[in-house]
Amino acid sequence: MITEKKSTVTYVKWDRGANREFSEEVTVLRMDNGSITYAMGITEEGYLLHCYYGPAIGSDDISYLMRLADYPYTPNGNNRDRLLFLGDRPFEFPCHGIGDYREPCLMVLDEDGMSACDLRFVSYRKMKGKPELKQKGVSCIPATYAKPDEAETLVVTLEDSHCDIAVELTYTMFTKLNVVTRSARVVNRGYHDIRIQRLLSGCVEWDHSNFDMITLNGAWARERAVERCRLHSGKQSVESTRGISSHQHNPFAALVSRDASEEVGEAYGFNLVYSGNFLAETEVSTNGFTRFVMGINPYDFSWLLRPEEDLTAPELVMVYSGAGIGGMSRTFHDLYRAHLIRGQWKEKMRPVLINNWEGTYFNFDEEKIYNIAKAASEQGIEMLVLDDGWFGKRNYDDCSLGDWVVNEEKLKGGLKPLVDRINALGMKFGLWFEPEMVSPDSDLYRAHPEWAIQIIGRDMTQAREQYVLDYSNPEVREFIYSEIRAILDSANVEYIKWDMNRALSEVGSTSLPRKRQRELWHRYVLGVYELMNRLTTDYPHLLLENCSSGGARFDAGMLYFSPQIWTSDDTDAIERLKIQYGTSICYPASTMGAHVSDCPNHAIGRTTPFATRGDVALMGTFGYELDVTRISEEDRKAIPGQIAKFKKFNPIIRTGDMYRLGNLFEDESFDAWMFVAKDRSEAFFTFVQVLNHPSMPARRILLRGLDPDRSYRNEDTGEIRLGVTWMRGGVIVGAFGDFVSKTMHFTAV
Ligand code: DGJ
Repeated sequence: MITEKKSTVTYVKWDRGANREFSEEVTVLRMDNGSITYAMGITEEGYLLHCYYGPAIGSDDISYLMRLADYPYTPNGNNRDRLLFLGDRPFEFPCHGIGDYREPCLMVLDEDGMSACDLRFVSYRKMKGKPELKQKGVSCIPATYAKPDEAETLVVTLEDSHCDIAVELTYTMFTKLNVVTRSARVVNRGYHDIRIQRLLSGCVEWDHSNFDMITLNGAWARERAVERCRLHSGKQSVESTRGISSHQHNPFAALVSRDASEEVGEAYGFNLVYSGNFLAETEVSTNGFTRFVMGINPYDFSWLLRPEEDLTAPELVMVYSGAGIGGMSRTFHDLYRAHLIRGQWKEKMRPVLINNWEGTYFNFDEEKIYNIAKAASEQGIEMLVLDDGWFGKRNYDDCSLGDWVVNEEKLKGGLKPLVDRINALGMKFGLWFEPEMVSPDSDLYRAHPEWAIQIIGRDMTQAREQYVLDYSNPEVREFIYSEIRAILDSANVEYIKWDMNRALSEVGSTSLPRKRQRELWHRYVLGVYELMNRLTTDYPHLLLENCSSGGARFDAGMLYFSPQIWTSDDTDAIERLKIQYGTSICYPASTMGAHVSDCPNHAIGRTTPFATRGDVALMGTFGYELDVTRISEEDRKAIPGQIAKFKKFNPIIRTGDMYRLGNLFEDESFDAWMFVAKDRSEAFFTFVQVLNHPSMPARRILLRGLDPDRSYRNEDTGEIRLGVTWMRGGVIVGAFGDFVSKTMHFTAV
């Protein structure tokens, strides 16, 4: 429900040598769904101030939360204390240059080189459901979606009359989820050009700083490690400046109460639906107030806004949980599964695939791939994915990106004969592409060197011996799409792995005008979105899996196009525990590409039991990444059992509630987690012993999420206990050697 309430704030202030009483009329706009409240207030001067965000608050007057009386503030007409007033105001959308010295959401530069901005309230409108994010000339901006009865939207318009810009702030509150989404759109309403130097998606303010900040950080092969730090005075931030959301920092941050654990405490989660440069920043002022902002990274960003043009910020998803960090994660999972992921695969179990990358690398031909497929199909594997190396003259990672034509020396007669043979085995076929790249040694680069991102006259930095294509250029997108289409139309390809293996450098475009060069970072991302949207619209049956050197682009922007993302190139079962734990802080298990690979593991050389590798991969989409013709007979024979387990438990894992029971970041000796069906009729529990100690007694692990009043049978031991007993008394799990896993199935009786 969206409501408006006017009230009068009265206070006494020292003014011109005497105490005087002031009163001011304010309007509070609030959104309520019965579980959470989000409120903002409009002062007489037209400032839009943050009022409240958190668990549902009473329906009475909450304008006092704007704390207008707490400062040496004098109302309209007396500007003497403006700096003091503005310096600590909880602005909904802070700007710069008028006395608020903290992190702004909007910075503009006008034609005179002036850069201040002073946004004042104009109007608001409300609507059922959730409108799409729009920007002139942009075909697709990923965002969550909702039907009219699933959400309500408030659009608040502000303007700066000096620069003639209007800013529309869009807030959507979901009716059944503790979620508010935000975006901002700036429109040039004047007759002169304006430069947008920064446009963030949103800002939230608190009048305290009793928070820890949780972020997900890492590197190649160890993505999304969880870090938790206490807020301190000044700024704390994570960002990407690489053009992709990155291995280094995920576009996610949470501010959690100091006492917050998995099950208790408050958590405010923030996630940007964006796949490029981002910034997430908290700033604690000297008064101990906290401001949090997030959006496209202002780093090297500048956008020319001509009269009538607009620019839309990506969506910021905000989740509130009063049930700890676990509660926050489960809300993100529910939101993304139901309101972000699209397409035919959204609610379906994914085919069990085998990917040849770790099995063969570039060293394969048609027979080898067919033999892997044949042996895999005999074990019940349902799809063969042919990874890098099938095109151009690519036998190593030093050539041919951009030449998406089949290498007939490897695959005689092209793709179709191989795909037909694989289909005849009863298997689907999937294919790897890296559509955003070009190798210097490629026909494409020789024909169109100007299509690579570059600064003319400067050396171009290679990474993995490749350059990045200029996706801001429609000609480039058109060409690459026609190549992909030719391949897709030539054979029955039912899955694509869309890879992206380097960050951007020398960010310049030969097709953009001089004044628009700094737009390339963002235009690149919009270009990628356009092509992915086109692909998934034209080929709706395709299962798209994103990938970026493992998980360097594991973000909500990508999930709008692909229901699953390759989580990491590190397929070691033990390393994956941390990676999957960190990923699950924000993203559901149904989205995590997870495969059983061969040992010793190719990323870290560790050997783990085949069964443990299977149990850990069950937490994601599940598949294999090995040469099934070359593993031991014992491991091969275990595959049908693993697949049966996947088929049995994937419905709960894919659609149920996830509870993290262990945390390797704090206790390196074990990990455990469970998934509970939405109707709480069954649960699937997994335990992994990471490091055993001599004479270690069996562990007792408390289950979560069961119905306390129902009885559940442990199908593995036959024990029947009340849900409350399993949750307060726990389950005893024996310690039986390093890297050994154990799963349990609980059913309500
Ligand atoms: C990086 C990906 O993460 C791997 O899975 C594999 O597809 C390689 N690229 C292929 O070059």
